[in-house]
Amino acid sequence: MLRRTRTTKKLAKRIDLQYFAHAHPFRQWRFWLSIAVPAIALSWFVLQRAQGGQKVYSAGPLSHAHAVFTQQCALCHVAQAGSFSAHVTDKACLTCHDAPVHHVNQTFTPECASCHVEHKGAMLLQATADRACTQCHADLRTRDGQPHYISSIAGFDRKHPEFSTLRSGKTDPGGVRLNHYLHLQPNLIGPNNTRMQLICDDCHGTKTADVTPHQAAELHPASLTEISTRRPHEQAYMPPPEFAKHCAACHTLQFDTHFGNEQVPHDKPEVIHTFLVKKFGEYIATHPGAVHEVNPPDRQIPERVRQARSARNAAEWVQFRVEDAEWLLYAKTCKQCHTLRPTNDSLPEVAKSNMTTRWLSHADFDHHPHRMMTCTSCHSRTPDSRETTDVLLPGIQTCQQCHRPQGSTKEAAEGRCYECHQYHDWTKTKPTKGDFTIQQLRGEARVPVLDR
Ligand code: HEC
Ligand code: HEC
Ligand code: HEC
Ligand code: HEC
Ligand code: HEC
Ligand code: HEC
Ligand code: HEC
Ligand code: HEC
Ligand code: HEC
Ligand code: HEC
Repeated sequence: MLRRTRTTKKLAKRIDLQYFAHAHPFRQWRFWLSIAVPAIALSWFVLQRAQGGQKVYSAGPLSHAHAVFTQQCALCHVAQAGSFSAHVTDKACLTCHDAPVHHVNQTFTPECASCHVEHKGAMLLQATADRACTQCHADLRTRDGQPHYISSIAGFDRKHPEFSTLRSGKTDPGGVRLNHYLHLQPNLIGPNNTRMQLICDDCHGTKTADVTPHQAAELHPASLTEISTRRPHEQAYMPPPEFAKHCAACHTLQFDTHFGNEQVPHDKPEVIHTFLVKKFGEYIATHPGAVHEVNPPDRQIPERVRQARSARNAAEWVQFRVEDAEWLLYAKTCKQCHTLRPTNDSLPEVAKSNMTTRWLSHADFDHHPHRMMTCTSCHSRTPDSRETTDVLLPGIQTCQQCHRPQGSTKEAAEGRCYECHQYHDWTKTKPTKGDFTIQQLRGEARVPVLDR
C-alpha cells in the first residue's frame, strides 16, 4: 500500500494567503443568481398570470367538465371578503348543480368534494372511489332501525350480494304465457307452414318493428341461423314483446269460417264483442238465406261438440254465431296466451300482461355496451325454459367475470360501485339556475361574494 506523507507544512502551502484580494468566481455567480432566480420566477409567474389567469395557484388541472372555469377559482373556492379558501363548501357546488341526497335515513351526509375529487386532471368526476360508498355500506346503519339492504358490502368482488330477484327465488309475474324452449326450436312452424328458427331479436330488441317473422323466415332459414345479436339496440332495457309485432304472424285470431282468414282485433273482450255483432249483422243483411243454414258442430273445440242449433230469425242467427265465435276465442285462442277470469258479465276479463321491463330496480343496466355478446351468454337458461314463471336473468357471477374493481386486475371492465349504481336520488331533482355572466365564469369579472 502506498503511504501518503501529509505533513502540516505541506498542507499549509496550499492556502492562498492573498485570497481576499481577488473575487472568487463562485461568489460572483452567487450574487447574480440570487437576483436572477427570483426575477425569472416572477416574470414566469407574471407571464402565466397574464396568459392563464389564476391557474398558477392551482393544485392541478380541473376535471373535464369544469376545465372551462379554471380562470375563476372563486366559483368553487368562495373568497370570503376577497380571500381564497382551499376548502370548498357544498353550497358552492349547489349554486350550479342540484344533487339530491342519497337516502333520507342515512346517518350523515358526506361533503361533495369528498366523493367528487377535483384537480386530478381531465377525468370524470363521477368516477368516485369505492371508499366513498363503503364508508357506509361496509357496515350500513340507518337513522331508523335496521337497514333494508345487505349491510356489509366491501366491494363488487367482496361480499356484494347476489341480486335480490335471484336470491329470493322470485318467479316471473308476467301474465302472457311463453314457452321459450318451444319457440327456439330449429324447425318451428312459421307462417304458411314454413319451417324457421326464431332468434331472440325476433321478439326482443328495438329494431324488430320493421322485420316480421314473415320476413324473418327469409332472413334466417332454419339451417343458417344461430342465436345472435345482429341488430344494434338503442335502448338500455328491452321493450316488452307485442302481439301485433311479434306473435301475430304465427298466432292468428280467426273467428268464423264465413270470414275466411279474417281476424278479430287484438283487444278487450267488450271491443271484440261489438266487432263480432257488427260483422255478423252485416253478413246476414247481405246473405239473408244463411239464417236457415244448419250450424255444423264446432270441430275446432273437441270438448265442445255442440248440438246443431237452427236460428229462427236473423237476430237469433247473429246471437248464435257470436256466442260460438266467443266460445272458440275464449276457450282456445286467447287462452293459449292469457289467463282469463270469469266476470259477472258473460265476457271474461283478460289478466294484465304485466311484463317486467326493469328487474333490477336498485341498479342500472344497459344492454347496449354488452351487445358484443350473445344473448344466451348472459341469459343462459333461456333455451331450456318451458315456463313463463322462470326467471331468466344472469346472476352476479356472470358480471364478475368482466367487472372487477380496480386494483384486483387492470384487464377488466369498470367494477367500482358508480358503474352500476346511483348515489343521488335523481327522482327528487329540483331545477337549478345560476346567475353568473360569461365574464364571471371566464374569470374576466369578479364573482359576487355570496354566502356560499
Ligand atoms: C369546480 C370547482 C373548483 C374550481 C373552479 C377550482 N377548484 Fe380548487 N378545489 C376544488 C375542490 C373540490 C377541492 C378540494 C377541497 C376540499 O377538500 O375541501 C379543491 C382544492 C384546492 C386546493 C387545495 C389542494 C389540496 O391538496 O388540499 C387548492 C390549492 C386549489 N384547489 C386551488 C385552486 C385554484 C388556484 C383554482 C383556480 C385556478 C381552483 N382551485 C379552482 C374545486 C375547485
Ligand atoms: C359555475 C358552475 C359550477 C360549479 C360551481 C360546479 N359545477 Fe359541476 N359542472 C358544471 C357544468 C357546466 C358541468 C357540465 C355539464 C353538466 O354535466 O351538467 C358540470 C359537471 C359536473 C359533474 C358531472 C361531470 C363528471 O365529470 O362526472 C359533476 C359530478 C359535478 N359537476 C360536480 C360538481 C361539484 C362536486 C362541485 C363543487 C366542488 C361543482 N360541480 C361545482 C358547473 C359547475
Ligand atoms: C358518497 C359520494 C357522493 C357524494 C357525497 C356526492 N356525490 Fe355526486 N355523484 C356521486 C356518484 C357515484 C355519481 C354518479 C351516479 C349518480 O348519478 O348518482 C354522482 C353524480 C353527480 C353528478 C352528475 C350528474 C350527471 O349525471 O351529470 C353531479 C352534478 C353531482 N354528483 C354533484 C354532487 C354535488 C353538488 C354534491 C354535494 C352536494 C355531491 N354530488 C355529493 C357520488 C357522490
Ligand atoms: C352516508 C352513508 C352512505 C353513503 C356514503 C352511501 N350510502 Fe348507499 N345507502 C345508505 C343508506 C342509509 C341506504 C338505505 C338503507 C335502508 O333504507 O335500509 C343506502 C342504500 C343504498 C342502496 C340500495 C337502495 C337504493 O337506493 O337503490 C344502494 C344500491 C346504495 N345505497 C349504493 C350506494 C353507492 C353506490 C354509494 C357510493 C357512491 C353509496 N350508496 C354511498 C347510506 C349510504
Ligand atoms: C357491475 C355492477 C355492479 C357493481 C360494480 C356494484 N353493484 Fe351493487 N348491485 C348490482 C346489482 C345488479 C344489484 C341488484 C339490484 C336489485 O336487486 O335490484 C346490486 C345490489 C346492491 C345493493 C342492494 C343489496 C340488497 O340488499 O339486495 C347494494 C346496497 C349495493 N348493490 C351496493 C353496492 C356497492 C356499495 C358497490 C361498490 C362497492 C356495488 N354495489 C357495486 C350491481 C353492481
Ligand atoms: C317468440 C318470441 C320470443 C323469442 C324468440 C324469445 N323470447 Fe324472451 N320473452 C318473450 C316473451 C313473450 C316474454 C315475456 C313472458 C315471459 O316472461 O316469459 C319473454 C321474456 C324474456 C325475458 C325476461 C323474463 C324473465 O323471466 O327473465 C328474458 C330475459 C328473455 N325473454 C330472454 C330471451 C332470450 C335470451 C331469447 C333468445 C335466446 C329469447 N328471449 C327469445 C318472447 C320471446
Ligand atoms: C314463428 C312462429 C311463431 C311466433 C312468431 C310465435 N309463436 Fe307461439 N307458437 C308457435 C308454434 C308453432 C307453436 C306450437 C303450436 C302447437 O304445437 O300447439 C306455438 C305455441 C305457443 C304457445 C303454447 C305453448 C305451449 O307450451 O303449449 C304459446 C303460449 C305461444 N305460442 C305464445 C306466443 C307468444 C306470446 C308469441 C309472441 C311474443 C309467440 N307465441 C310467437 C309459433 C310461433
Ligand atoms: C300468441 C299469444 C297471444 C294471443 C293468442 C292473444 N294475445 Fe292478447 N296479448 C299478447 C301479448 C304478447 C300481449 C302484451 C303486449 C300487447 O299488448 O301487444 C297481449 C295483451 C293483451 C291485452 C292487454 C292486457 C293488459 O295488459 O292490459 C288484452 C286485453 C288482450 N291481449 C286480449 C286478447 C284477446 C281477447 C285475445 C283473443 C282474441 C288475445 N289477447 C290473444 C299475446 C296474445
Ligand atoms: C351482459 C349480460 C347480458 C346480455 C349479453 C344480455 N342481457 Fe338481457 N338482461 C341482462 C340483465 C342484467 C337484465 C336485467 C335488467 C333489468 O331489468 O334491470 C336483462 C334483462 C333482459 C330482458 C327483460 C327486460 C329488461 O330489459 O329488463 C330481456 C327481454 C332481455 N334481457 C333480453 C336480452 C336479449 C334479447 C339479449 C341479446 C340481444 C340480451 N338480453 C343480452 C343481462 C344481459
Ligand atoms: C364480457 C364482459 C362483460 C360481462 C360479462 C358484463 N359486462 Fe357490463 N360492461 C362490459 C363492458 C366492456 C362495458 C363498457 C365499458 C365499461 O364501462 O367499462 C360494460 C358496461 C356496463 C355498465 C355501464 C353501462 C353504461 O351506462 O355505460 C353496466 C351498468 C354494466 N356493464 C353492468 C353489467 C352487469 C350487471 C353484468 C352482469 C349481468 C355485466 N355488466 C356483465 C363488459 C361486461
